[in-house]
Amino acid sequence: MQATACAHSNIAFIKYWGNRDHALRLPANSSFSMNLGGLFTRTTVRFSAALSADRAVVDDRVLEGASLARITAHLDYARRLAGCALRAEVISHNNFPAGVGIASSASAFAALSLAAAAALDLRLSEAELSAYARLGSGSAARSVPSGFVIWHMGEDHRSSYAESVAPADHWQLTDLVAIISTAHKAVGSTEGHQLAESSPLQAARLATSSARLEQCVQAVLERDFERFARLVELDSDIMHAVMQTSAPPLLYWLPPTVAVMHRVRQLRAEGIGVCYTIDAGANVHCLCLPEAVERVRAELSAIEGVREIRAAQPGGSAWLES
Ligand code: PMV
Repeated sequence: MQATACAHSNIAFIKYWGNRDHALRLPANSSFSMNLGGLFTRTTVRFSAALSADRAVVDDRVLEGASLARITAHLDYARRLAGCALRAEVISHNNFPAGVGIASSASAFAALSLAAAAALDLRLSEAELSAYARLGSGSAARSVPSGFVIWHMGEDHRSSYAESVAPADHWQLTDLVAIISTAHKAVGSTEGHQLAESSPLQAARLATSSARLEQCVQAVLERDFERFARLVELDSDIMHAVMQTSAPPLLYWLPPTVAVMHRVRQLRAEGIGVCYTIDAGANVHCLCLPEAVERVRAELSAIEGVREIRAAQPGGSAWLES
């Protein structure tokens, strides 16, 4: 009763921020992302009668308290489906260094869901697996399918899942992640989602987000970078406007974050194919066309406060290892 699974991290072009149902992580809007090839979590789950409690080790660190409880709650769902009461051992590794500032909850919960389902021989469809991953971390729903992925907000647990709209090889975008801070976020996304509706701007964001998503999917399908760049930056800026105007307000940007945003805008004005998007942190994801990658990398390295640059290209779906 053991399985090992891997899943990539992902970066959203049209963001998820705010829930309609916090317990089920039913989002307030649909979102759209690309899996990040090369950046993944590998997780082994082993159910055993010899264990008296769940145990989890992430990057050689034994989890306790709330982090362990979150994993136990996630495993409980699979145990309920399988009619199994056995406790489990979870061993997980991120292939990107922990604390580098790249979010790992999406890849972690996608890999955990696939490994747990396989270990218990649950035959879940991709949509069912994605909905299951969503319960652990919303964005994990998007790390289950391949390539370019829409997470449909849905109306209930079953209908809120992600699916691929184009395979990883559809468009050779590169995400150059400018690492600015590796500090642990003061306010994590689970808490952040609960603050979203306290911003007077969230209603305006939600009223316009499905139109942005439709246009952004179209831009990706047509590989229309100019249109894509405008929509991606607009959607990130609107999400951060909501974050910055919630109660309490969340300001994830640091001075180098803003410096990168300016540089990216200047470069695009000069005809270089690059745009930015920022999650709940200070790091900036710079999405580049193939011919722009080396120039953008050099420009980012020259910005004070950019500590490191990580590169990723579109990645495939979550997978099982034998
Ligand atoms: O899945 P969570 O709860 O970590 O939320 C992710 C939130 C953002 O990264 C800010 C946006 C997104 O859609 O990934």
